[in-house]
Amino acid sequence: MKPKLLVTRHIYPEAIDLLSGHAEIEYHDDSAGLSAQALRGALTDKQAVICQLTDTIDAAVIDAAINLKVIANVAVGFDNIDVPAASGKGIVVTNTPGVLTDTTADCAFALLMAAARRVTEAERFLREGHWHQWEIDLLVGRDVHHQTLGILGMGRIGRAVARRAGGFGMQILYHDALRVPADTESELGLRFVDKETLLREADFVSVHVPLNEATRHYLGAPELALMKPGAILVNTSRGPVVDEKALAVALAEKRIAGAGLDVFEHEPEVEPGLLALDNVVIVPHIGSASIKTRTRMCTMAAENVLAVLSGSRPPNPVNPEVLGD
Ligand code: DGY
Repeated sequence: MKPKLLVTRHIYPEAIDLLSGHAEIEYHDDSAGLSAQALRGALTDKQAVICQLTDTIDAAVIDAAINLKVIANVAVGFDNIDVPAASGKGIVVTNTPGVLTDTTADCAFALLMAAARRVTEAERFLREGHWHQWEIDLLVGRDVHHQTLGILGMGRIGRAVARRAGGFGMQILYHDALRVPADTESELGLRFVDKETLLREADFVSVHVPLNEATRHYLGAPELALMKPGAILVNTSRGPVVDEKALAVALAEKRIAGAGLDVFEHEPEVEPGLLALDNVVIVPHIGSASIKTRTRMCTMAAENVLAVLSGSRPPNPVNPEVLGD
């Protein structure tokens, strides 16, 4: 008998091609998702699930999934999954690291540049018919080149953003719980500083920390108050890392100059205070959204499932202790 797999939402067909023949698949080929109750029901007889960051896999869901061996998230972040609860039941949780690093860094840089040069505001101005002539101070923004970038979180994506900043001649400060190796610091031209120094000195602050209890509201009113009045904040990590209400106030009062946001505290809701502002560039969590990257994220999740179901080590476990490591 083939193992049973739940795929909670539409994924790229390449992943389904990999899986078919190896599992009996209950495929919800749409983007609606399952209610908590439906998810619990659907998982009772499944050995594997491929889920997305919009699926909440909490302790109650995990308790109901009495046959489950693997939860394969199609994302690098896994804050939608109660990993300790899964580990407690011996269930492997996997993610999709690496493949989306450069794509997400591209998006962070696009937001940084768009906010600095007021690209979306300028486009709205033009489309709304307000452009009558070239003017010396029309929609003037801020330089990116040779400015100081502060990167909070120097993991894969933080480093990829640093590489891009190097091409713009930026000075790069960073802060992380762990300092990166000295050769990485010198290769990327990084200067390690404490969080407060970074916030005080940076012209741009880009956030790349994972969401967990220690990073919830990692940037709130006190931190935003340390930033320069001309500074721009970019967030492509997770919304709750930034206190969105405090950010809206700081932007409205021009205590900082702008923001570029891909992620929000209560997606798909966006703090109305932010929507009302011109000095914020907002996009709907598209950091990894290139065709190539999203396709590969799906096939990676499929490979993780296939490995666990065949009794091999999955390539991307986030709780390797379950595998006896
Ligand atoms: C992730 O992978 O965690 C992103 O937020 C979705 O691309």
